[in-house]
Amino acid sequence: MRAQTVAGLDIGTTKTCAVVAACGPQGLEIIGVGEAPSAGMRRGVVTDLEETVRSIEAATERAERMAGVPISHVYVGVTGEHIQSTNNRGIVAVSGEEREVVAGDVKRVLDASKIINLAAERQIIHALPRHYTVDGHDGVTDPVGMSGGRLEVDTHIITGGATFIANVLKCVHRAGLEPAGLVFEPLASSAATLLPEEKVVGVVLLDIGGGTTDIAVYAGGGALHTGTIPVGGNILTNDIALGLKTNFAEAENVKRVYGTAAKTETDETSFSVKTLDGRNTRMVTTQELRAIIEPRIAELFRMVRAQIAEHVPRDQILGEVVLTGGGARLAGIDAAAAEIFALPTRIGYPATLAGLTEAVKQPEYATAVGLVLFGPKTENGTTNGVRRGIFGRVGAWLGELWN
Ligand SMILES: Nc1ncnc2c1ncn2[C@@H]1O[C@H](COP(=O)(O)OP(=O)(O)OP(=O)(O)O)[C@@H](O)[C@H]1O
Ligand SMILES: [Mg+2]
Repeated sequence: MRAQTVAGLDIGTTKTCAVVAACGPQGLEIIGVGEAPSAGMRRGVVTDLEETVRSIEAATERAERMAGVPISHVYVGVTGEHIQSTNNRGIVAVSGEEREVVAGDVKRVLDASKIINLAAERQIIHALPRHYTVDGHDGVTDPVGMSGGRLEVDTHIITGGATFIANVLKCVHRAGLEPAGLVFEPLASSAATLLPEEKVVGVVLLDIGGGTTDIAVYAGGGALHTGTIPVGGNILTNDIALGLKTNFAEAENVKRVYGTAAKTETDETSFSVKTLDGRNTRMVTTQELRAIIEPRIAELFRMVRAQIAEHVPRDQILGEVVLTGGGARLAGIDAAAAEIFALPTRIGYPATLAGLTEAVKQPEYATAVGLVLFGPKTENGTTNGVRRGIFGRVGAWLGELWN
């Protein structure tokens, strides 16, 4: 029996994925993964409680079987249009007579930064420290032990609609699990795919799921902006079904096999597509398909670009775009992003954990893998709504390993 395990639960629009990791000799190691189709969740919002509970149960059972250990507590991914973010600042006087910053001061200043105008139905999910300032000297990453009288922190605050979150947690509870904490999904995807250096230089992570595209922008080592756009890969499937007059399943298949976000293709081919009733087929060219997909992808990236322009200072240098989520599997999507953002673009494959089987090293598992990495980190003074018991200590212990 392994002593310390940590589990993540990503309840998506198309799939639910549970990941279990244990502390092995080489650090955190994935020991179990389980996946199940999800039909009760749309764009981060529970639309069918029973369906969602069933999907969570199926995914966790599979992960438990593979890991050989029961899952009791899970870090739960959340997303959706109800999520909002803002940057804030907290200021406190350093308490000790020695005028030396101690851990308690850091906690107090983070708490001070959490004081924002919060509507009654909203809750803080994360208060992520970006950098500290000690007696006017900014850019401090860890102020503990430094001398000074005045401690300031710049934080990125992420809030969510309490009732939307309560419904997700209700499903988790009904599936027999205890939520250990909440994580806004693109932060998890980032933890699984981005290097610390990328977060320093400036990077845009886009997790293109079935129902939403989640955004996380990092610069100077911390999160500068996070957000979500209620458009994901499923809209392409919809467009293809309408455009080629076929059913959803056939459209999904066509998208995966022949779909491309490229504007031009050198070798055009044609392929057969089932008619709506599934009884006949007709020929379609890759050119026709591209004419459906390319404008949608361009539109999505322009929406992302507009959101970034609104929230990220114009003079902020960004070095790269990283794409995760199942939508990142579309052929040519990296080139399309590179063109619209005018930045080098790569696909984010989860790679920061040992024990990853080949099957999990795909962009659509970035969120689930990242939950076990980022979840415990949220425990240290920066958390988020869900209270914990025994697991809090385990989380803090795991958190220390990465801080
Ligand atoms: N090979 C592929 N080519 C194009 N699109 C793909 C491919 N594989 C998966 N997708 C798309 O990826 C999307 C699902 O991605 P993902 O599994 O990340 O979503 P999710 O986490 O369930 O949803 P969300 O994050 O929006 O709640 C679907 O729209 C699916 O059609
Ligand atoms: Mg997702």
